[in-house]
Amino acid sequence: MIKAIRTNLLNPLSPYKTHFMPNVFISFENDIIVSISSKKPQHNWQDLTHTICLPGLIDAHVHLSQYNAKGKHSSGLLEWLNTYIFIEEKRSQHETYAHQISEHFFRETFAYGTTTTVIYTAPYFQACNIAFETATKLGARSMIGKTMMDRNSPDYLQETTQKSLKESFQLCEKWHQSTPLLDYIFSPRFAPVCSPTLMQEVGKYAHKNNIFIQTHLSENTSEIKWVTELFPEANSYTDVYARNNLLYENTILGHVIHISETELELIKKYNSKIAHCPDSNFFLKSGTFPYEKILDKGIKFALASDVGAGSSLSMLNVMKMANYRQEKYIVSPSEALYYATLGAAEIIGKKDEIGSIEVGKQADLAFFQTQNLQEKDEILSELLYLSSDKIAEQTIIAGKTVHQKNSTK
Ligand code: GUN
Ligand code: FE
Repeated sequence: MIKAIRTNLLNPLSPYKTHFMPNVFISFENDIIVSISSKKPQHNWQDLTHTICLPGLIDAHVHLSQYNAKGKHSSGLLEWLNTYIFIEEKRSQHETYAHQISEHFFRETFAYGTTTTVIYTAPYFQACNIAFETATKLGARSMIGKTMMDRNSPDYLQETTQKSLKESFQLCEKWHQSTPLLDYIFSPRFAPVCSPTLMQEVGKYAHKNNIFIQTHLSENTSEIKWVTELFPEANSYTDVYARNNLLYENTILGHVIHISETELELIKKYNSKIAHCPDSNFFLKSGTFPYEKILDKGIKFALASDVGAGSSLSMLNVMKMANYRQEKYIVSPSEALYYATLGAAEIIGKKDEIGSIEVGKQADLAFFQTQNLQEKDEILSELLYLSSDKIAEQTIIAGKTVHQKNSTK
């Protein structure tokens, strides 16, 4: 069946160019966009002329199990993890809770216009399994992985190396591309809690089967010091991952703040990607993402909420924070939009399917009401700076409406 919506389209073309098309009809047949035109279609259409339509937003790094632990003040990353976060993740051991949190999490992403999420779940088989079941039921597009930790962790989270590997491989076999919307992503948490064997085996399996990997890198200075003590043979934190097989083109590295030129060269050499989480960096006082250096090196990156260190699942909020968090570099609204849509689609290997609104691509759409529908250059700016926790009017994933404002559905 063909559906059409009349709206005002803002489409990212590049970091520096956004295309505005007022008053157009976007038509889609099932999950695919079939036309974008100013001509009225023959069939019925929905009138959303009072909205701006963006491509569905993409959150490239988020911890589902931390959804209820946002806003916990601390002196920095390690204290925050040890005081609040590890114990919070334990709650997802209980299946009833895992169902509840997964459902709330996905519904809230939809309400904020996010259509694709790249997720770490708690390190329990069922917590991850339930996240996949819920994503399937609700129609979320998602890459999901069970967090892996086999050392230096609280006993309620730590697994043996073999169990961690076995369960991750099982989840991958069960869920990877089980529907067109779902992928598995291996999620070794970060070097301090992962043994060399664990990292090497994940790397081997992921390369062989072309599965994505995500982990954290160089977020905080105490974390880096700990890594240096644990891996004295390595030349740097990045080198720990390079030596242990975790770096390749389908690796997404979270944060990457305190990073040397040599390490950036290494990331570039492996063509690995970065998830930049400005709101989280602000909250945990982690430091400033070296935006210009990353651009100069040509390393691909995307924006991400990193909830629960991020304060909100709203990607409009993250886009605003991307500019606020830089001391010198000015991140334009157009750049922020790109790194939460087309640029993000690129780092997760999906730029031919999602990230912009084009004929032949998936109908992943987010509609927002704004005070300004006329001034092309001001619409996006106002959307970010004035309404960063704004609820979408409607959100569509693969042609299916997953959220409608003021609807109890
Ligand atoms: N490093 C290791 N684990 C985490 C986490 O859960 N959140 C953040 N922000 N950094 C981490
Ligand atoms: Fe994180």
